Amino acid sequence: MKILLFGKNGQVGWELQRSLAPLGELVAVDFDTPGDLSGDFTDPAALAETVRRVAPRVIVNAAAYTAVDQAEAEPELARAINAGAPAVLAKAAEKLGAWLVHYSTDYVFDGQGEAPRVETDPTGPLSVYGQTKLEGELAVARAPKHFILRTSWVYAARGANFAKTMLRLAAERDLLRVIDDQVGAPTGADLLADVTAHVLRAAEDRPQLAGLYHLAAADETSWHGYACFVIEEARRAGHALRVAADRVESIPSSAYPTPARRPANSRLDTGKLRRTFGVHLPDWRVGVKRLIDELPVNQGDEHTGS
Ligand SMILES: NC(=O)c1ccc[n+]([C@@H]2O[C@H](COP(=O)([O-])OP(=O)(O)OC[C@H]3O[C@@H](n4cnc5c(N)ncnc54)[C@H](OP(=O)(O)O)[C@@H]3O)[C@@H](O)[C@H]2O)c1
Repeated sequence: MKILLFGKNGQVGWELQRSLAPLGELVAVDFDTPGDLSGDFTDPAALAETVRRVAPRVIVNAAAYTAVDQAEAEPELARAINAGAPAVLAKAAEKLGAWLVHYSTDYVFDGQGEAPRVETDPTGPLSVYGQTKLEGELAVARAPKHFILRTSWVYAARGANFAKTMLRLAAERDLLRVIDDQVGAPTGADLLADVTAHVLRAAEDRPQLAGLYHLAAADETSWHGYACFVIEEARRAGHALRVAADRVESIPSSAYPTPARRPANSRLDTGKLRRTFGVHLPDWRVGVKRLIDELPVNQGDEHTGS
């Protein structure tokens, strides 16, 4: 199985390099890959040419415009990367009869209510990022052999994410204020990558399994609950933190205005994926605990992603 991976250096792309390797020959490119295989999502003609040259049986797209707040200021760039380029990949995949795997987000929903969303629930993005990701889904779904994996609150040891930002801030400050009225499931890029490999193996000769699936770690928390867990685990792992456990204050979203609106309910029902592919999705705490153990003591980073 020859696989072409786009976005190889993102959180998910990096883990995919590991988990897709045993499936077959892997050609992995990014934005600025040197040589003649372009992975630049702002250059549709070059992308199509890359697919034509590699002629893969599977295309995996881990590239995206993920700066949720910044997208409000540059909707056309976000749209080109999140919807325009995936449309090019969908056409190319159809022409080749190849599988196309694409990732999407809980931010395609409006976040009303408390019920976990199933794949057939109506969408209603609140932000440019969510809207462009939804347009990307629609484009990818035109390829007959596609998997769209919608996920939430992605983190990894490599890359920028909320958990690493909390660690950095907890080392610098005595008090943290974190939103407690948005609920979802932090999901590891490693889990996403491993499940992608599992799905591809299971579906290799079963195009009837193509479709949209929700994929997130089990159980739920708020950003506040997530921050507290990260800080407790980091203490246990020996990180020197200034903030005390009882100095992580809960605040409502209204007290932390951001350019992009985010859904209050980011719960995803993952039953379809678990039943179809027989996968077990662990509790979100399992992966976050592992992340903390994996990070060098007192390493933090900026959080820009969704
Ligand atoms: N992060 C989350 O919390 C989250 C939540 C739900 C769904 N998702 C979805 O999951 C997927 C993977 O996300 P992630 O967290 O791995 O994102 P990420 O770490 O931001 O990685 C995205 C990758 O896309 C690359 N990229 C940006 N602009 C590009 C362009 N013009 N051409 C080619 N590549 C470009 C980035 O390169 P640079 O780093 O050089 O810009 C980066 O390597 C995305 O589809 C995302 O929408 C993410």
